[in-house]
Amino acid sequence: MTAQPGDSFYDQVGGHETFEALVHKFYEGVAQDPTLRALYPEEDLGPAEGRLRMFLEQYFGGPNTYSQQRGHPRLRMRHVHYAVTPDQRDRWMRHMLAAMDSLDLPEAHDAAMRDYFTRAADMLINADEEGNPL
Ligand code: HEM
Repeated sequence: MTAQPGDSFYDQVGGHETFEALVHKFYEGVAQDPTLRALYPEEDLGPAEGRLRMFLEQYFGGPNTYSQQRGHPRLRMRHVHYAVTPDQRDRWMRHMLAAMDSLDLPEAHDAAMRDYFTRAADMLINADEEGNPL
């Protein structure tokens, strides 16, 4: 990975390959977690993997393919159909942090991404532990 001055965060962490590897690893974790997996509507996790990858690439300064294909992110609205309880948030984060571990990024970049995931996942909690909407 040879970062150049003026590179976006996306480029600095390795661009498309990095996000592809991150999201792939994350969904391997989701696939093996029946409680979290039950939230995902489609039998094939491949399309969900592509949506999350495009979103993260865009968020971190890469191509804006996500918005071209899906429109404005409006993440909280897009999660209203899924009961994001504190437990589901914890599961989601566990798989994402394990996927981050597998990347072995430079410390500042690693910390910035973990911080984003922690804040965004907290913001998406929309149900209490029993699944009742908040
Ligand atoms: C950093 C936190 C998160 C981010 C950035 C994120 C991002 C996304 C994105 C971009 C989509 C696709 C939306 C679309 O275009 O239709 C999505 C879908 C989804 N998310 Fe999240 N999410 C986060 C946290 C969570 C959490 C904590 C849960 C539940 C525990 C969750 C469950 C789901 C489910 C079930 C879907 C539907 C899968 C699909 O078909 O795309 N997400 N999320």
